[in-house]
Amino acid sequence: MSMISDAASVAPGQSVYRPLLLRFYDLVVYVYNSPFLWRCPPFVLRQQYERHLGRRHLEVGVGTGYLIDTAHLTIHPEVTLLDINRSCLTATGRRLARFAPQIVQASALEPLPDLEPFDSIAMNYVVHCLPGSIEEKGAAFGHVAARLADDGVFFGATILQGSAPRSPIAQLWMDFYNRRGVFHNAKDTPRGLRAALERHFGDVRVELRGCVGVWTAKRPIRS
Ligand SMILES: C[S@@+](CC[C@H](N)C(=O)[O-])C[C@H]1O[C@@H](n2cnc3c(N)ncnc32)[C@H](O)[C@@H]1O
Repeated sequence: MSMISDAASVAPGQSVYRPLLLRFYDLVVYVYNSPFLWRCPPFVLRQQYERHLGRRHLEVGVGTGYLIDTAHLTIHPEVTLLDINRSCLTATGRRLARFAPQIVQASALEPLPDLEPFDSIAMNYVVHCLPGSIEEKGAAFGHVAARLADDGVFFGATILQGSAPRSPIAQLWMDFYNRRGVFHNAKDTPRGLRAALERHFGDVRVELRGCVGVWTAKRPIRS
């Protein structure tokens, strides 16, 4: 497991992911929140890996590595894990040891280190954690586009507000997470997400599953 470090873990939206919380992360996020609060069953996100994962794969904002670990992959990819938070990188690096992942500590909001072009890049449940408007944090899509191969696929998901359908209880939890600085998605809308992706990719698909915007983006626009 090799390690490149390019960031200090001081940015908002990631400090909550400490080793103790990571032990309960899969249970909270994938057994309850995603299917029942946000109405996006985990298989929808897993399917993205099963369909699009390429030989050289970059995982941005890794959490515990739950999705890539539990997806039924038909290839054995070269995996790079990028996150600003060292605890997440350590936990996921261990879980995905079978891929001998390269570990990169860096912020998705800054231009990414000079890594090889990737055939696939995933960014699941990260954008709603990033501070700033969707236009501002959409800069992360530009940084990803710069590292995606011309024929590569960028896929991901983020929890949205605006016109995205959500129950009163989901709204209560979202407001709570926003007040605690865990989420920064009060103004993230489906339309804003699409526009932010289209600034950096020539072929964008966004589907709403509950209040989760699930996307695939191809044809990176080189700036
Ligand atoms: C909600 S978790 C999502 C984890 C995983 N992708 C999943 O689907 O469960 C958000 C992840 O994004 C990371 N993160 C937050 N801000 C970041 C930033 N600026 N740059 C890179 N990673 C960041 C956190 O450390 C955490 O691992």
